[in-house]
Amino acid sequence: MWRIYSFSVFLLIIVFSTCCSSVNETVFVNTDKTKFKILSIFGYLGKSHFDVFKPLLEELAYRGHEITVISYFPRTKNAKMKKPLPNYKDIDLVDPKIGVYVNKIDLQQISHSFRPFNELFLLKSLADVACNVTLRNPAIKELLRSDEKFDVILTENFNTDCFLGFIHHFKTPYLTVSSHQITPWTNEDMGNEDNPSYIPNIFLGLTRPMNFLNRMKNTMTVLFFKAFYEYWIRPDDQVIANKVFGPDLPKLKKIAQQSSALLVNIHSSLHGSRPQLPNVVEIGGIHIPSKINPLPKDIVEFLDSAHDGALLLSLGSMIKATTMPQKKLDAIMKVLTSIPRKVIWKWEVDDLPHKMDNVMTRKWLPQFDVMNHPNIKCYLGHGGLLGVSEAVYVGLPMILIPIYGDQFHNAAAVKTRGTAVELSFNDLSEQSLRHALDACFNNTSYRENAQRLSKAYRDRPATPLETAVWWTEYVARGNGNPYLRSEGADLPWYQYHLIDVALVLITVSTALIYIFFRLIKLLLSSLLSAVKGKAGSQAGKKSKKKD
Ligand SMILES: *[C@@H]1O[C@H](CO)[C@@H](O)[C@H](O)[C@H]1NC(C)=O
Repeated sequence: MWRIYSFSVFLLIIVFSTCCSSVNETVFVNTDKTKFKILSIFGYLGKSHFDVFKPLLEELAYRGHEITVISYFPRTKNAKMKKPLPNYKDIDLVDPKIGVYVNKIDLQQISHSFRPFNELFLLKSLADVACNVTLRNPAIKELLRSDEKFDVILTENFNTDCFLGFIHHFKTPYLTVSSHQITPWTNEDMGNEDNPSYIPNIFLGLTRPMNFLNRMKNTMTVLFFKAFYEYWIRPDDQVIANKVFGPDLPKLKKIAQQSSALLVNIHSSLHGSRPQLPNVVEIGGIHIPSKINPLPKDIVEFLDSAHDGALLLSLGSMIKATTMPQKKLDAIMKVLTSIPRKVIWKWEVDDLPHKMDNVMTRKWLPQFDVMNHPNIKCYLGHGGLLGVSEAVYVGLPMILIPIYGDQFHNAAAVKTRGTAVELSFNDLSEQSLRHALDACFNNTSYRENAQRLSKAYRDRPATPLETAVWWTEYVARGNGNPYLRSEGADLPWYQYHLIDVALVLITVSTALIYIFFRLIKLLLSSLLSAVKGKAGSQAGKKSKKKD
């Protein structure tokens, strides 16, 4: 009896102490529902974009959310074996006739004259394909006929709004993810500051700070791209979306403005400091794995023996190696054989025209794992954001040869930080490449800057993956747009820039200054005439006296 009594007192104490300690605590966490149904739509066919989204989607499933992923990149058998995720449901869009965008870019057709304009046409044609092909997929029609309900929708922020029809259809809060720097029209939709006087836009390769000419170019490009998106890309997307989602679909711009958050694959240490709205969140480097995998044996042996250091050469997943102009390929090979370093080269063709003793080529390379080998001293890439972010993370100096898209912007960003040499593809020659390699290997300032940048890039309050997961859950809990939408975004341009206020202030102050001077003039002239009058009458008296 006594034992039972003492035990229940003990229990009471425990209950009491836990209840009261929790009463005293105020904690900033949400105690709502914790498992969500998530729909994610990624209708663009580029693999390098999906590589940014994949870790987030998998992590959400891993944490117990139920996630449906519409994309061209379903989880492979191998991935499912390694990490089974029963909550991750793929809706596979792949059409074997079309395939996905890998090794697509033809270097013979690259022209860098009028580049931003070519870029715009490319974006437009990619948007047309993504909307037309993706939205016509039978799997999409089936999903639209179902009566599924979701807590949150996650979709890509890039070159089209046609997928925003799903937001209207499911009446669900949503957020977007951008695999690159924010586009000018997205800044406009969200009301995010993008003052071209000091924030270089994604379409040009401008280093910071900008001189007068570059500020001019930057301003015109931002205005031009916003207008073209609004009046050319968006109306076409609206037509396609109306066909799929019905004629009562609101204006896509209206839906775009309801985004609760934008997760962006950039980081201020790399792309520069700039004001962001609280719901524009940097998740730069989210794709970087938390652990380094051991390298294949032959690669380890090759790199271990590179006592004077090695170069990693990789132009990413989009560029078709066989289209490299022969003259440029000859120059590259000639220089690479002549340097006292080893070279590991990702090259999609079986054999190089001739064998080079210090060069190893592979059709595919575990790029991040290779970068982490201590003998890799320099990375030669094309400026794609995945490779650049990995090199920044590892602290490697780089040589970048931008080809298209945001690669010029990324190259300029690392150049500003003093960790990269930029090489123009048009001017790629024996001499320019040798010069760049000498800088990358022999000029210690690049390495020192790279190490410093790496330290700042890794130092964050939470990992980019944790940050992205938190924001997705936050929006799923129903928080977001109602509290975070910037009022600035809804103002007409002349109010946003205070043109109306400035006009009134200038007019009123000009009027006041005018009135002030008129008054002074009036006063002076009446004073003057009074003095004159007095002088005149005295002179009159004097002359009278003379008479
Ligand atoms: C770096 O300097 C060494 C020694 O002067 C030289 O042999 C080498 O060619 C230079 N460049 C590279 C890319 O290693």
